[in-house]
Amino acid sequence: MEETLATGTRRTVTGEACAKAILFGEHAVVYHRPAIAVPIRQLKVTATVNLDPDEPGVLVATDINRRVVFSDEENQTSLARVLRLVVSMLGMEDLPWSIELTSRIPIGGGMGSSAAVATAILRALAAALGREFTPAEISEMVYRTEQLYHGSPSGIDNAVIALEKPIWFLYGTEPEILKVQRPFTLVLGHTGRHSPTREVVASVRYGWRDNPERYEVIFDEIASIVRQARHILERGQIERLGDLMDKNHNLLKSMGVSSGPLERLVQAARNAGALGAKLTGAGRGGMMIALVTQDRIEAVKNALLSARGKSVLVTTIGANVEPRSNRSARLHRRG
Ligand code: MEV
Repeated sequence: MEETLATGTRRTVTGEACAKAILFGEHAVVYHRPAIAVPIRQLKVTATVNLDPDEPGVLVATDINRRVVFSDEENQTSLARVLRLVVSMLGMEDLPWSIELTSRIPIGGGMGSSAAVATAILRALAAALGREFTPAEISEMVYRTEQLYHGSPSGIDNAVIALEKPIWFLYGTEPEILKVQRPFTLVLGHTGRHSPTREVVASVRYGWRDNPERYEVIFDEIASIVRQARHILERGQIERLGDLMDKNHNLLKSMGVSSGPLERLVQAARNAGALGAKLTGAGRGGMMIALVTQDRIEAVKNALLSARGKSVLVTTIGANVEPRSNRSARLHRRG
C-alpha cells in the first residue's frame, strides 16, 4: 500500500491486492478439507481513493467499464454491493471520497478477482482514514463481502490475498503460512470462459446432496493429496508435485467441474512436458495451472496458446522457509 499526496489539495491514497491460485484442494475445501493456495503477485487490482473529489461517492472501474454511484441503492451488481458493505464497515458513508479501480485479474477466472477487488478497496479506504488493519482483520472483512455473492465461500481466497503468502487453509482454523523449501514455476492458462464460482459451487452441492457417500470419498481423496503436497513442498521435492496435480485434476473432473476447454489445456500442457496440470479455482471455465521445469516453460506456453488458450502467464512461487513459530497467520476462527 502506498500513499501519495497529489498536486493541489487533492489527496489520493492507493491500495493494492494480488490474485491467487489454488494449488490443491478447491471445492473439497468448502466441505472442510484442507487446501493449499498461493498468491500470484504479477496480477493486481489497484484502488485509488481521492478524498477531495469533484464527484463524491462514485467508483469508476474503467477496465470493466463500470461506474457505481454509492447512493444508487437500486444498483445490485456485485461491485456495488461490495462497495456499500466495505464503505459501511469503515463508517465512511458520509465522507467525500471517490474511487478509481483498475484490475489485471480476469473476472470469473478462478484467480480471486472478487476478493482482490474488495481487498484493494478496503486497503485504500482504510489508508485514507489513516487506519491500519492486520491481515486477519482484512481477511475477515473481505470474507463478509465474499458471502454476498459466493453463497458458501470457504474463506481461502480472502485469506491468501490478505496474507500474500502460500497458505495451508482449513475452514475454522487459522491459516498457516506454508513452508516452501524450493521455488517452483507454474504456467497458467486461461480458457477465456467466464465461470461464476457461485454456480459451480452450487452444482457440486447438488451432486453432494444426491450422493453424499460418493462425494465424501472424493473429498477425502483430495484431502489426502493436499496433505501429501504439503509434505512435498516442505521438503522441496517439487518434481513429485506434478503427479499429485494430475490426480487432483482427475478427482475434480469426476465431480463434473472440468470442461472441454479445461481438458484441452490440461492435456496440451502435459503433452508439452509439464510435470503435472490441473484446473484451478471453481472450474468449468477460468484457468488451469501447469507445473514446469525451466526448460519446458516456452514449450508449455506455446502449447497452451495453440490449444486455444486465451492468455498465459508464468509465475514462480519463491521459497519461503521461515521458522515454524513465525508461521501462524493468526487469522480469526470462523467456525
Ligand atoms: C474458489 O476459489 C475455490 C472454491 O473452493 C470455492 C471456495 O473455496 O469458496 C471452488
